[in-house]
Amino acid sequence: MAVLGLAASALAACGEAPAPSTGSGGSALANAFDVPIAGLSPDWVARFNDGDRLFQIVLRDADGLGPLYTRQFCGACHDDADGLRGPGTAQKMSVVRADGVTPAADQSLLAYGHTVHPYVTAGATTPILPPADPSVRVTNRLGPSALGRGYMEAIADSEILRVAAEQAARGDGIHGTVNQVAYGSMPNPDPSFDAHQPGDLVIGRFGLKARIATLDEFVADALQSDMGITSPLRPTEFPNPDGLTDDAKPGVDATADEVNLRADYVRTIAIPWRAKPDARGQALFQQAQCSACHVPALHTRADYPIPQLADVDAPVYTDLLLHDMGDALSDSLADNDGAATPRMWRTAPLIGLRFSREFLHDGRATTLQEAVLAHGAPGSEAAASAQLFTGLSAADQQALLDFVNSL
Ligand code: HEC
Ligand code: HEC
Repeated sequence: MAVLGLAASALAACGEAPAPSTGSGGSALANAFDVPIAGLSPDWVARFNDGDRLFQIVLRDADGLGPLYTRQFCGACHDDADGLRGPGTAQKMSVVRADGVTPAADQSLLAYGHTVHPYVTAGATTPILPPADPSVRVTNRLGPSALGRGYMEAIADSEILRVAAEQAARGDGIHGTVNQVAYGSMPNPDPSFDAHQPGDLVIGRFGLKARIATLDEFVADALQSDMGITSPLRPTEFPNPDGLTDDAKPGVDATADEVNLRADYVRTIAIPWRAKPDARGQALFQQAQCSACHVPALHTRADYPIPQLADVDAPVYTDLLLHDMGDALSDSLADNDGAATPRMWRTAPLIGLRFSREFLHDGRATTLQEAVLAHGAPGSEAAASAQLFTGLSAADQQALLDFVNSL
């Protein structure tokens, strides 16, 4: 990390675009991630570096940590050593029926919501922990990778709607749902990426259930919910059992620019260098219908403020839609995330998976093959696709997985 950071700032200092760029095969940087998109202006590279530093800064009481928190810095759950993924998790809880999966109608046992907040500071004494009740189910959410997320923000709404309509016309059971959600923050004082007002209907694309539309809102949400750091976008402390409305730092804890720098860092992280795809693996990926949901590329809007991301085909391998993946992958959370039912998840972007060691929303799979087989559970929209995969010869399965691993 330190080495890459230095390399990036050295390059920024002489005003050059940092490698890697696609097509420059064989360099040592082929295995680098956490590097800025090639060709960014020096100003953007500077924001990448400043945001990267904030992403790693451990927040303390004097910064406004708490009263409740889960971890003290972004990198705790989006680690440099692991493709900016995990190892930290957020835990969710839900009251379930006797079958252990279906959410119960009465969730009143969870007076402070569905998210576990294990740590307290700044005068708080009562964390939010799962009640010791057999009807409460606790599930994990692994911090997803942050790689290539700027491309995902830049994708035009019309592209997401187009793919949803194409899927609705298919006869094979694949029919993704657009997660139309309300913008849930105060307006960003810097409206260059979005000028959303509270309550505006927007297409969710971030989070494992696509519950938030923009990266600035996502960062403000993470600061507030994971760290108890308030900002102009999210000025109030997370409701807590001690009834505290502030912490050791009076008033709003972080500035809008501190939110926006972290968002700009995430926006400008490159998609790791990809070798020219193996044609056989690529064809099998299509043949097994993986590409129906893991759509290889979606087009970005022309007015996106980062020129390198505007009006391009973003190679994200997701449709940004929610899909029903069956009970086996359910988290039993009834009503936390817009249109998402407990069994629904956003198609995971296939970006830089070779840097990760755990897969799926809770990290239950430790190999790509396990992740693909988990698509095949009863009731999953991807069951037929998983069956096509298992019907392939061992050599073809491997070629397909090698292709996925190269993305
Ligand atoms: C406690 C662990 C944890 C911490 C700390 C944390 N995150 Fe996350 N992050 C997660 C989890 C879990 C998700 C998925 C959340 C969801 O499903 O809504 C996530 C999702 C994200 C996403 C969306 C990625 C995607 O694929 O849609 C971004 C961007 C992000 N986090 C950035 C940050 C930033 C910036 C910080 C620091 C301000 C931060 N996170 C702190 C666990 C964490
Ligand atoms: C119906 C849509 C759909 C189809 C078809 C589909 N997937 Fe997925 N895929 C998803 C969703 C949704 C997830 C996230 C599930 C979760 O996290 O629990 C996912 C997750 C993954 C992951 C884990 C990625 C990560 O970051 O952890 C891999 C790998 C993957 N899919 C590969 C494939 C392959 C290979 C195929 C074809 C054999 C395929 N998928 C077919 C929707 C689909």
